Amino acid sequence: MANPVLDVRNLTTHYFTRKGEVQALDDASFGLDKGESLGVAGESGCGKSTMAFSLINQVQPPGRVVEGEVNIDGINSVQLSETETRKKVRWKRISMVFQGAMDILTPVYTVGHQMKEPLHYHQGITGDEAREKCEKYLGEVGLDREIFTRYPHELSGGQKQRVIIATSLLLEPAVLIADEPTTSLDVVVEAQIMNLLKRLKKELGISMIFITHDLSILSEVSNKLSIMYAGKFAELGDAERIYNNPKHPYTEKLLASIPRLHKDVKRLERIPGAPPNLVDPPSGCRFHPRCPYAEKVCQEEEPEPRGVEGRKVACHFAGEVT
Ligand SMILES: Nc1ncnc2c1ncn2[C@@H]1O[C@H](COP(=O)(O)OP(=O)(O)OP(=O)(O)O)[C@@H](O)[C@H]1O
Ligand SMILES: [Mg+2]
Repeated sequence: MANPVLDVRNLTTHYFTRKGEVQALDDASFGLDKGESLGVAGESGCGKSTMAFSLINQVQPPGRVVEGEVNIDGINSVQLSETETRKKVRWKRISMVFQGAMDILTPVYTVGHQMKEPLHYHQGITGDEAREKCEKYLGEVGLDREIFTRYPHELSGGQKQRVIIATSLLLEPAVLIADEPTTSLDVVVEAQIMNLLKRLKKELGISMIFITHDLSILSEVSNKLSIMYAGKFAELGDAERIYNNPKHPYTEKLLASIPRLHKDVKRLERIPGAPPNLVDPPSGCRFHPRCPYAEKVCQEEEPEPRGVEGRKVACHFAGEVT
């Protein structure tokens, strides 16, 4: 990659709780080019949102980034103070649509009032100029301009989610993170939102990170795919290759557990067992207690990611068993 928009190295974030140190994100490394999109999938609690918050330098206590770099436009954001992050990085360079984002719209203010805030803070834009810009982006996400004067309770869930997306685009960030952007929306609206994000990526050249536990909606919108298990990247690389020919046993099981259209799937599989407690994750490969191919080495040694057919796979037997 010549000049990636985002270059993440060894990013590690833990939560320091009374019950111990939750190793929620461990040693995540990846790069993202302009206009490229990364899909992040994995079971609930595997660290997807923790990674997203780490990328925008907004991990909440008791969490903290304990190691690693997030280089964006030559700035390592994890070293910045909260004030510097707000000034230099968040919204401007990297923006995030939060999980459950539509609930963050305050009921007492109009949509317009809430949209104008980042414009005022970052660019000093107010009044008619701010209104025009907000309306332009409301248009971009397929909403009527008059939504600007409405209150959140007057909007549907899908409309609210579009408002959030429009707001996160206002400062034209290089990278947009969408954390479960379609949770709690019906399937028709879900498809509309995913198509919208796809179009924005293409038309505005934005790099995107899509996060979901639902792999089936990622295949269409991602160039790259990262499959996370228990705070770690199990498999990372070209989305199509991973989707069609998974190399990590966890990816294989995860794909077998989702209904896929146009494929001859005889029976959906369940992954036996449950994800581990990240205060005390399993030794060696964190997936070994649930892995049908596990051997002694998997209990004892942590697998280093190895290159196999266009992706990195953290499995001792990558390329051999699947
Ligand atoms: N504030 C917190 N304090 C302690 N532990 C936390 C906190 N937030 C998250 N965790 C733990 O960190 C791990 C990763 O959580 P995270 O929210 O990143 O998962 P996720 O992959 O986004 O899950 P989901 O699909 O349910 O959104 C989990 O084990 C979770 O219990
Ligand atoms: Mg989450």
